[in-house]
Amino acid sequence: MAPGGGRGTGLPMRLPAPSDEWVRDVDVVVLGSGAAGLAAALAARPVREVLIVTKDVLDAGSTAWAQGGLAAVLDPGDTFAEHVRDTLEAGAGLCDEAAVTALVHDAPTAITYLERLGAAFDPGHDGERALTREGGHSRSRIVHAGGDRSGAEIQRTLDENAVNAGVQVMSRAFALDLVFGEGTPRQVAGVRIARLAEDGSVESTGLVTARAVVLATGGFGQVFASTSNPPAVTGDGHAMALRAGIALRDLEFVQFHPTVLWTGPDSSEQQVLISEAVRGEGAVLYDGAGRRVMEGAHPLEDLAPRDVVSAAISARMAAAPGGVDDHVFLDATSIGPRFTERFPFISEACRRAGIDPLVDRIPVAPAAHYTCGGIRSDLHGTTEIAGLYAVGEVADTGVHGANRLASNSLTESLVAGTNVGRALSWRLPRRVEPAPSTGREGLLPDRHRAAVRAAMSRHCGVLRTPEGLGAAIALLDEVASDVSADVAPTRRSLEATNILTVASAVLRAAAARRESRGCHRRTDVTAALDEWLLHLDVVLSDGRLEVHGGPGA
Ligand code: SIN
Repeated sequence: MAPGGGRGTGLPMRLPAPSDEWVRDVDVVVLGSGAAGLAAALAARPVREVLIVTKDVLDAGSTAWAQGGLAAVLDPGDTFAEHVRDTLEAGAGLCDEAAVTALVHDAPTAITYLERLGAAFDPGHDGERALTREGGHSRSRIVHAGGDRSGAEIQRTLDENAVNAGVQVMSRAFALDLVFGEGTPRQVAGVRIARLAEDGSVESTGLVTARAVVLATGGFGQVFASTSNPPAVTGDGHAMALRAGIALRDLEFVQFHPTVLWTGPDSSEQQVLISEAVRGEGAVLYDGAGRRVMEGAHPLEDLAPRDVVSAAISARMAAAPGGVDDHVFLDATSIGPRFTERFPFISEACRRAGIDPLVDRIPVAPAAHYTCGGIRSDLHGTTEIAGLYAVGEVADTGVHGANRLASNSLTESLVAGTNVGRALSWRLPRRVEPAPSTGREGLLPDRHRAAVRAAMSRHCGVLRTPEGLGAAIALLDEVASDVSADVAPTRRSLEATNILTVASAVLRAAAARRESRGCHRRTDVTAALDEWLLHLDVVLSDGRLEVHGGPGA
């Protein structure tokens, strides 16, 4: 076990719900309805019965909120080698170069594919697709739609195509736990589902059996009080994998977006992203005393990789220049009147907050944005469990390493999701009979959700201290003692339990990694150390978390 890989207390190994009242059998069940899940469902559908299970509605996840766009080499002056190099550099030594190379080569095709499905990307002056720049990219290579509504256009396109192709959708259906094969515990047989009423109470529990389960549940931004992610993003797939004994890799690498709209010290609702593309178009960061934040901090200054910008902002806020210690300012006035057309969503959000980006500096702060780590997988979704595939943010394909390069994630979701769907349309895993599920059941009362999220933002944010991480682990262990089989299953208590499970695992990985690398930054060891050029895996066994894989392991 790695240093800091201490033991948690009593996390549940199974989510309780009334016993199964119905069974449904399909070829492929996809959990989650963002870009990765929809791409998988769509590609498998022509020859398979495919069911998407979503705990909300199709577009409730992160995809629909993405602003920036999709990164791909489309400019004749750009090269695959440069996109690979930028991705590896952002990933701070922990990317899988083969996976990065494969993604970069497939990215232009993913964009053409989306266009053929009906996505309308913004045209540039020459009639070709407009390309913009974001942090860490040495070239303009981000394709966008509707100005800053890229994700909404991708979600719309994939929703329409999937539904028209006959993909079935089970909405308001909470995926509880994976079910394994009788006598074949390393092969998945299906998933237990709780159907939810509109008020979030459980209407019925059932079992969906399938030859293949595709986990596409997204990330876990809502584990933090301060996040750009929508309310549905509570780490359900990550927690489900932990309860199934599946190792989660690179959990400490939570990417904090440098700029969400700062609306007050205690905001814990989803925060409005101020896209990196705004800096790509020329906006500049200033501190509370009016000094530039990124000058001299990195050769790319305001367009440095995201981890660098978030860390610089956090360090500057800690110094409280001008008495301002919880936000900085983004000056986008140089963009001029074009701002409104290029960033319609951001313009509207700023105006609602009483800010005119054409004349005012926008108050911004970093917030949890993207989950680099997850289920060990590859660009074909392959996991350690037969019949189980992981795609999108829940997966760790090796593409992002210790820090994702901006706008590589939607491209990755498209490529990996489509790869999985295509493979499943060609061949399905064998059918296995579901075995009865076992393991200690329990749920966390929802009243603890806010305290867990606040502790994560306070102690496991952009800059982490060993004392803070220790305090958060102690607090969450205390909270875990309230997990009980007597708590009523509702959407809120199911989510709160998943939030606690994932938060506890992230804290242990962050405490174990005694260095600073990518988006994991510690104040006690500020450098990246050669002996830590490795991955950490977190495993939940018998309700206890263990971290595997530190130096000398
Ligand atoms: C942004 O628009 O800044 C976010 C893009 C991303 O997360 O890749």
